[in-house]
Amino acid sequence: MAIRIIGTGSYAPEKILTNADLEKMVETSDEWITTRTGIKQRHIAADGVATSDLAVQAARNAMEMAKITPDQINFISVATVTGDKAFPSTACFVQKKIEANNAVCYDVVAACSGLLYSLEIAVAMLRSYKKYKYALVIGAEKLSSIVDWQDRSTCVLFGDGASAVILERDDSLPDSEDCLVASELGAAGIYSELLYLPAGGSAMPASHETVEQRQHYIKMTGQELFKLAVNGMVGACRTTMKESGVKSEDVTWVVPHQANMRIIGAVAQRLTIPEERVFVNIDKYGNTSAASIGICLDELCRSGKIKRGDYILLTAFGGGLTWGAMLLRW
Ligand code: ACO
Repeated sequence: MAIRIIGTGSYAPEKILTNADLEKMVETSDEWITTRTGIKQRHIAADGVATSDLAVQAARNAMEMAKITPDQINFISVATVTGDKAFPSTACFVQKKIEANNAVCYDVVAACSGLLYSLEIAVAMLRSYKKYKYALVIGAEKLSSIVDWQDRSTCVLFGDGASAVILERDDSLPDSEDCLVASELGAAGIYSELLYLPAGGSAMPASHETVEQRQHYIKMTGQELFKLAVNGMVGACRTTMKESGVKSEDVTWVVPHQANMRIIGAVAQRLTIPEERVFVNIDKYGNTSAASIGICLDELCRSGKIKRGDYILLTAFGGGLTWGAMLLRW
């Protein structure tokens, strides 16, 4: 039995916010944003559009590639920190909108590492239960709804978007055909307040005061995160390569979470992977958190730059703190 990726999809809303647009909103410059982050623009969802709406577009693209219909999907997992509502799960809203009436639905909260966490859970479910054949794994965010547009240190970084992956359990294939070669996840809750949203949960329910104090927006300690991000991703990547015996020169593509070009550069350098094998699209989307590596994977897939048997190394880092790496054989 083997688990295979049979479809990918992604979606970004039409509206684009450029660095020049941000220059008119806060005291910043295209030069600062470009040199410090590599971001040139980000996509922003319209008012009234929810995370599940972005997710649905990505899911439809992935189902089309996989050539499956919504009623064939056995479970839907949505990784997000910007769910439509506190409950029910965003996966349930996606289910309703695509009419995947036979699916079990749940969300995964692991910030920017969400898609990796979600893929690991999905693979384990498919391997464990014969009753599951098709999994729809989504990473989707409307980060513009939790960004403080008055805070220049964070508002320039984030964007909206969604990505989806369809996994299939194929009982006719040998184990050696499995797409997941090795995976390593990590977390360190001691750093939970380096990147978080203070209010709106049970620890600090919404009140007039929390709104006045702007506690419903992302708070981030950027410089500390920077170092931890590099260490977390490099460590996880090395573990997957050591476990599998795959060397950095065997990896066709590294697909890192798109948070900052300098972080991506530092990770690639420490893994000794040349930049032409590191997938980057941060200039177009900014940091889309859980959607980020899935958007990259979909662009790579559709560009024809991956062939069967290639090793693809996904790696991510995010609030929690959480991090991980996943080595795939395409
Ligand atoms: N425009 C102009 N100046 C700015 C801006 C801005 N948008 N933002 C901050 N500055 C100023 C600061 O006020 C500071 O000014 P000062 O020296 O007068 O005090 C100066 O620029 C330098 O600020 P630093 O925070 O030291 O800048 P740094 O080089 O560390 O870059 C950044 C900041 C881009 C946030 C970087 O630390 C980073 O990328 N960190 C990692 C953040 C990250 O990846 N977060 C997400 C990971 S998890 C996830 O994806 C959810």
